[in-house]
Amino acid sequence: MTAQRIDGKAVAAEVRQQVARQVEARHAEGKRTPGLAVIVVGDDPASHVYVSNKHRACEQAGVLSFRHTLPDDTTQQALERLIDDLNADPRVDGILLQLPLPAHLDERPLLERILPDKDVDGFHPYNLGRLAQRLPLLRPCTPKGVMTLLAASGLKVRGLDATVVGASNIVGRPMALELMLAGCTTTVCHRFTRDLEAHVRRAELLVVAVGKPGIVKGEWVRDDAIVIDVGINREADGRLVGDVEFGPAAERASWITPVPGGVGPMTVASLLENTLHAAELHDAMAPASPQD
Ligand code: GUN
Repeated sequence: MTAQRIDGKAVAAEVRQQVARQVEARHAEGKRTPGLAVIVVGDDPASHVYVSNKHRACEQAGVLSFRHTLPDDTTQQALERLIDDLNADPRVDGILLQLPLPAHLDERPLLERILPDKDVDGFHPYNLGRLAQRLPLLRPCTPKGVMTLLAASGLKVRGLDATVVGASNIVGRPMALELMLAGCTTTVCHRFTRDLEAHVRRAELLVVAVGKPGIVKGEWVRDDAIVIDVGINREADGRLVGDVEFGPAAERASWITPVPGGVGPMTVASLLENTLHAAELHDAMAPASPQD
């Protein structure tokens, strides 16, 4: 069978419009504009492209965006102070520390310093713990975006045998938690997995997030599988490709995400949703004003 393409660009645009409508509805009710602070340290070109995309997406959705661009030699202490300031700033609903950080900085204590209710990346152990215990609050953006794509395509995943390839903190692990929450029987493959091919062949739903082009061969894909390719890799000729051999995989799968234009656009869309969600959490936390 030839797989139907899952159009992440279209779904992401719909999500972003939905957030924009909800921000307008907040204004109509006299509520605050949600605000997102993004911190980027150093001059990694890819990080700056991502941060610019996030900034533009905020503007289009009517979300305030506070960009903090810091030099490569920024100290751990200076970042701690900035995070403390943003934690205390009532205009800021979400704080995103763009990764990777320069090598001299230790990301873990910084990510944990972000208040869990402002952790729009969903990387704080509190938010991951809530997801693990089936009480999701702020959910990591890319896995959340994958779940949105599946739902928008009308795909029911409860009971499916799912395989996640890649066990990173940002994608693979929270993806496995999302799939378990959705009722999949979930296998996670990682660098010590002995027979990757066997686990891929079994998958009715396959999510690949490794960052290595062609790590999943198209011929391994089970007939009628749903294939979600999170990888974004630049080839020597400048082309962007995923982690799955697209052509042969698309001949076997029932649904497949292209690269580019599949999962990629969903990350920013989920980030906007999380920022709006955080603003709603903060509305509920705000002390009642005297006239209430
Ligand atoms: N770097 C690559 N992806 C991400 C992401 O989703 N969030 C952050 N903060 N940094 C990233």
